[in-house]
Amino acid sequence: LLWNALALLAAYLIGSLSFAVIVSRFMGLNDPRSYGSGNPGATNVLRSGNKKAAVFTLLFDLLKGLLPVLAVVLWGERIGLDQTSAAWVGLAAFLGHLWPVFFRFQGGKGVATAAGVLLGLNVLLGLAVLLVWLAVAYFTRYSSLAALIAAVAAPVIEVIGWGPSGATLAVLAMSALLVWRHQANIGKLLAGKESKLGQKAAPAA
Ligand code: G3P
Repeated sequence: LLWNALALLAAYLIGSLSFAVIVSRFMGLNDPRSYGSGNPGATNVLRSGNKKAAVFTLLFDLLKGLLPVLAVVLWGERIGLDQTSAAWVGLAAFLGHLWPVFFRFQGGKGVATAAGVLLGLNVLLGLAVLLVWLAVAYFTRYSSLAALIAAVAAPVIEVIGWGPSGATLAVLAMSALLVWRHQANIGKLLAGKESKLGQKAAPAA
């Protein structure tokens, strides 16, 4: 139990590193919470026009989901942590991204971090869900729509492919929270006002 609690806490703290803000600060860019959707995530950092910053944000936000899960998958057994614990550790990192303790609990929507968690739990599942994201993003150019469809697909693919497991509940929780965090995007999509990938934000005044 102690190890479980420590692993959850460590993952939450790692998840709380809001890389959209950190990378932007390092690269001398405006704070992503001040332009575009105001969301600290790779999609919004891309609206700054700096692709490199967006790629770094995506990569680091993904790694903070992937690495804690992989650590438990690879070494958890020694301290009594199994595959189910790995999924909950992933959820903790995801929650850190949504409600980061280091950024007044104002975090992002969890897309990149969830992708990392899924890849760590099950590479094939992660790749399948990534493929769904890529296909929707490619055809519609809406990052948010791609995330919403991929989020719905994730638990479905997991259960069809591998059957329900201890990890399923954590995957379901991530998907539900991810969809819930996209309320503003859903509204904009329905109103035809969502911005497409690569569209820059109006420069800050
Ligand atoms: O990664 C989050 C994405 O799905 C939507 O981001 O900035 O368009 O709200 P954004």
